[in-house]
Amino acid sequence: MLTLGVETSCDDTGVALVADGALLAHQAASQADLHALFGGVVPEIASREHYRLLGPLFRACLEEAGLEPEAIEAVAVARGPGLLGSLLTGVSFAKGLVAGLGGPAVAQGDGGPVLVGVDHLQAHLLAAGLEQPLTFPAVGLLVSGGHTNLYWMPEPLALEPLGRTLDDAAGEAFDKAARALNLPYPGGAAMDMLATHGTADPALFPRAYVDNPTLDFSFSGLKTAMTQHVARHPECAAPHPLAPETLRQGREAAVAALGDRFQAMADCCASYVLAVAETLAIKTSRALEQHPETQALLLAGGVAASRVTRRLLEDTASAHGVRFIVPSPALCTDNAAMVAFLGERLAQAGRCHDLDLDAIPRGQAVPRDYLQR
Ligand code: KG4
Ligand code: ZN
Repeated sequence: MLTLGVETSCDDTGVALVADGALLAHQAASQADLHALFGGVVPEIASREHYRLLGPLFRACLEEAGLEPEAIEAVAVARGPGLLGSLLTGVSFAKGLVAGLGGPAVAQGDGGPVLVGVDHLQAHLLAAGLEQPLTFPAVGLLVSGGHTNLYWMPEPLALEPLGRTLDDAAGEAFDKAARALNLPYPGGAAMDMLATHGTADPALFPRAYVDNPTLDFSFSGLKTAMTQHVARHPECAAPHPLAPETLRQGREAAVAALGDRFQAMADCCASYVLAVAETLAIKTSRALEQHPETQALLLAGGVAASRVTRRLLEDTASAHGVRFIVPSPALCTDNAAMVAFLGERLAQAGRCHDLDLDAIPRGQAVPRDYLQR
């Protein structure tokens, strides 16, 4: 089933084509450097950029696959949770495309493609399915810029919440700490890069909110601990905001820009990354203990690109004798391939939406209000 995926929930614009679970083409544009100028995502700018980019990316995606729009059988769009203005650009694009290719009576199967609104978080959790078979029942850990959630996943399309962050998400803890260090947005990638050159001090930052029986998280104290640490040790922060390309150029460029602060910053980042990863591992381990029938641990979301997080969660899975499943780093951050992958599975199960599909803003649960074909 040829499925187009559309992703515009935050600051990454993506369009992808998937057929029978395999990725055919993928076009993406990151707005990160633009938002880095403001220290974080500016919603109004994000919406305008999605609006500007979607059409050209769609055309390039079809060209990459060598296909015509008429071949598309399902259009899957991330409908939330996310920035409402950003979501509306993607949902409107998807609706327009479906209507243009087959008319609005999509639920009656009138010959045009079906429309499927996809939960962005569920798409993250299943993204690894593009690269390897998934195993269920599973415990899912979703760690992104807006969410830190643990789930019980008895089967591929079922998702039951076990725990969540009570304040900041793990990715947010990285982005806010990075700002205190004068590192560019998105902070997780910058801190992860520097951390590979540093030595972690396990006692430097707290493992917050672990002395309780819940599967919830709290990361806001960690960010405060970093702010206080930088106030005491100014050598842990860059003297002025670092340009995103400096870190992308690698270690030598970072050393040239940071001078003798490089090592102190690398050590500080290594300690912080370890504190986040260990906190995630402690609660995930508890979730696995509470669900002894688990066959796999699924790690997903932008923070799953973190090397230390991947290693510690892999150790956690192996300590519990379950399979460890994580997408390759490029599929961890926001992308349209995961949206197309989940959308295709839903469409194959007969689930779709009509043209009254709603976008769901951050903080609200995405309803399972599918129509059944
Ligand atoms: O899933 P995602 O791309 O977007 C959301 O849905 O939020 O996640 C973005 C988050 C950001 O907070 C970013 O700092 C973090 O993922 N991130 C990382 C890494 N790459 C991105 N965190 C740790 N290590 C990384 N390598
Ligand atoms: Zn995401």
